[in-house]
Amino acid sequence: MNTDQILSVKGVPLPSRPVLFMETTADAALASARSLAKRLDEFGVNIQDGNILDIGCGYGRIAYGLLERGYSGNYTGVDIINTRIDWLREHFTPDCGNYAFHHIDVVNEHYNPKGRLNSTDIEFTGFVGEQPLDSIILLSVFTHMYEPELTAYLHQLFRVTGPETRVIITMFLYTDARLASLDRNAKFRFAQVIDKNCRCERADNPLQAIAYQEDKARQLFEAAGFSIEIAHGSWNGDQAPHLQDWITARRIV
Ligand SMILES: C[S@@+](CC[C@H](N)C(=O)[O-])C[C@H]1O[C@@H](n2cnc3c(N)ncnc32)[C@H](O)[C@@H]1O
Repeated sequence: MNTDQILSVKGVPLPSRPVLFMETTADAALASARSLAKRLDEFGVNIQDGNILDIGCGYGRIAYGLLERGYSGNYTGVDIINTRIDWLREHFTPDCGNYAFHHIDVVNEHYNPKGRLNSTDIEFTGFVGEQPLDSIILLSVFTHMYEPELTAYLHQLFRVTGPETRVIITMFLYTDARLASLDRNAKFRFAQVIDKNCRCERADNPLQAIAYQEDKARQLFEAAGFSIEIAHGSWNGDQAPHLQDWITARRIV
């Protein structure tokens, strides 16, 4: 029996493919949503009642995790894939008015090649207003963006942060030492050079997975007004509870 359609969280159904990521089932999505909510809690995100902006929200993985934990703040999810946002607007928001989802038609060679806008056109204040948010989350989004887009997003993020805002980002960061120590357990090798600070996994589809030189990434965050702490992931074969590198960014006051 296909159980994809009958799984739900507090009455909100889990989507099935093709809204879910490739190869994901609804029960795997739910398990992943749960563990992400737990991890975000551990990283200091207010998952009880904080105001949260989730950029690149995908099929709503974090939103489902928050819903299950009884979150009562205002959540805003933004993504460039309209089928996912359409699903979430149709099935999630009607019963849960504190969750809003917005489509932005930003071009991305991997996810939305026919998009009509650039990342540099986007202002998040248009979705969440001018007040500082409690948390901003970008999980595996800068993993798919070139430096000019990433930089533009960081500057826009700064506008919706205050001294207490917690910004959580996952992406791939390399150092010479990490690349030199890749072993057979490495899930990514980033052998393709884009420029001296940026590499990718696949030359035929660079935006499928991009990695930034760690010091360069730190500089980009600092130039946009953020200091960062990094918890390294397991992509290079090291032991870690998560695949990508987790960044906690705080506004330099
Ligand atoms: C690997 S998925 C991660 C989705 C979600 N953050 C999660 O962890 O479940 C990457 C997401 O980033 C979105 N994305 C890519 N470029 C974006 C951009 N410029 N602005 C917003 N979202 C973007 C994609 O559409 C996709 O849903």
